[in-house]
Amino acid sequence: MSQKIGRTPMACVVTFGCQQNEADSELIRSMLADMGFEFVPKPENADLVIFNTCAIREHAEMRAFGNMGQSSHVKTANNSAIICVCGCMAQQAHVEQRVKKSFPYVDILFGTHALWRFPSLLYKKLTVGKRVFDTAGEGVIIEGVEPLRKEPPNAWLSIMYGCNNFCSYCIVPYVRGRERSRDPEVILSEFKKLVDAGYKDITLLGQNVNSYGNDLDNGIDFSELLRRINDIPGDFRVRFMTSHPKDATKKLFDTMAECDKVCKAIHLPVQCGSDRVLDMMNRRYTSAHYLELIDYARSKMPELTITSDIIVGFPGEDEQDFEKTLELVEKVRYDSLFTFIYSRRQGTKAAVMPDPETAEDKQRRFDKLLALQNQISREKNELYMDRVCKVLIDGFSEDESYTYKGRTEGFKLVHINGRPDLVGTWQNVKINRTSTWALFGEVVE
Ligand code: 5AD
Ligand code: SF4
Repeated sequence: MSQKIGRTPMACVVTFGCQQNEADSELIRSMLADMGFEFVPKPENADLVIFNTCAIREHAEMRAFGNMGQSSHVKTANNSAIICVCGCMAQQAHVEQRVKKSFPYVDILFGTHALWRFPSLLYKKLTVGKRVFDTAGEGVIIEGVEPLRKEPPNAWLSIMYGCNNFCSYCIVPYVRGRERSRDPEVILSEFKKLVDAGYKDITLLGQNVNSYGNDLDNGIDFSELLRRINDIPGDFRVRFMTSHPKDATKKLFDTMAECDKVCKAIHLPVQCGSDRVLDMMNRRYTSAHYLELIDYARSKMPELTITSDIIVGFPGEDEQDFEKTLELVEKVRYDSLFTFIYSRRQGTKAAVMPDPETAEDKQRRFDKLLALQNQISREKNELYMDRVCKVLIDGFSEDESYTYKGRTEGFKLVHINGRPDLVGTWQNVKINRTSTWALFGEVVE
């Protein structure tokens, strides 16, 4: 892309990974829009392509490298197109080296801490012409850039960045730095603006929202932040992710129970049911503590929806350890579960731990866990049969027999046949069919 192309320049932002990356992409889109770009959905039609990458597992990295490889075609079609790579992968030194050496058509690479410098990096590329690499800095918070969000009703709002926990398998603390909480007044004012703009289901984001405020000296913790958000007038509900069991307190569950706008839903990753493995993972809680939290939460909120993450095949995890995970899953009976096979991340503590179990054994255990959870999810969803749920309709259904979809307070996916004007509204939906993954129903008065 030259400095003058005589028409509106087009950008395409391709996002991999978690909601935090999605939220970062909304910031990038906002900066691009301010610079005069409009957006296209496909890289091949863009003058500028950004890959916002994820490093959490090897599979995510391979996909990103694959997409970067494909982007050479963008340059063939439009040799002045600019290709950028950012996000968690880009923050790692070995990735920077590989991109420098093997992906010559990548023009700009910037890490998570350099996000706010993107406009000046682009300017440098356009004026100086050389490839630009920026993985410097840490400890920054971007304020003043208003994310370019999707249309209402759903929005993400980052309340903190980074992670201090160093779970031994996890790359996040290395690529996103230490915990930094945003100022509560800034969060509250952004939240109010979202409510005024018609957003009705707002998710507070952070790697470990339960440690929100630990780095601030104003005495506000996550429960207090939730209470203040709950006091904002308006027709909305608020949810949050992710919670760490070592920091999720009874106070948090009391707060959730007492605040009517806080969804009765929690994502509380347990990772494993074996205390021996939890210790090796550096999770700093036991399965008994976890179960105690779940019991307390359910005693306060009988309808609470609980979801979790579990890693199968952590180095040294044996059959007995895995059996403990199955036992825990049977005890908790999650609404749904995100299950992963352990992926070795260079630079983490677990990467150098002996890992004697075979890939086949890990896969077999993974399949067993998935089958158990699918049965539980199916049974839990069956309990919604014939019930009337309050559903926020948020867009088109991907199920061919239904036209629209929405979410319950517990974030259950509900398919309905509806009309365009229902999008963004709450509807009472009578559930008349259920499956492992979703509920189906009809709007009732
Ligand atoms: N391998 C497999 N899964 C991982 N997760 C984080 N790091 C790894 C890894 N190295 C999972 C955890 C976390 C979720 C976001 O991703 O379960 O909660
Ligand atoms: Fe990774 Fe653990 Fe931090 Fe979650 S809490 S981001 S799993 S280090």
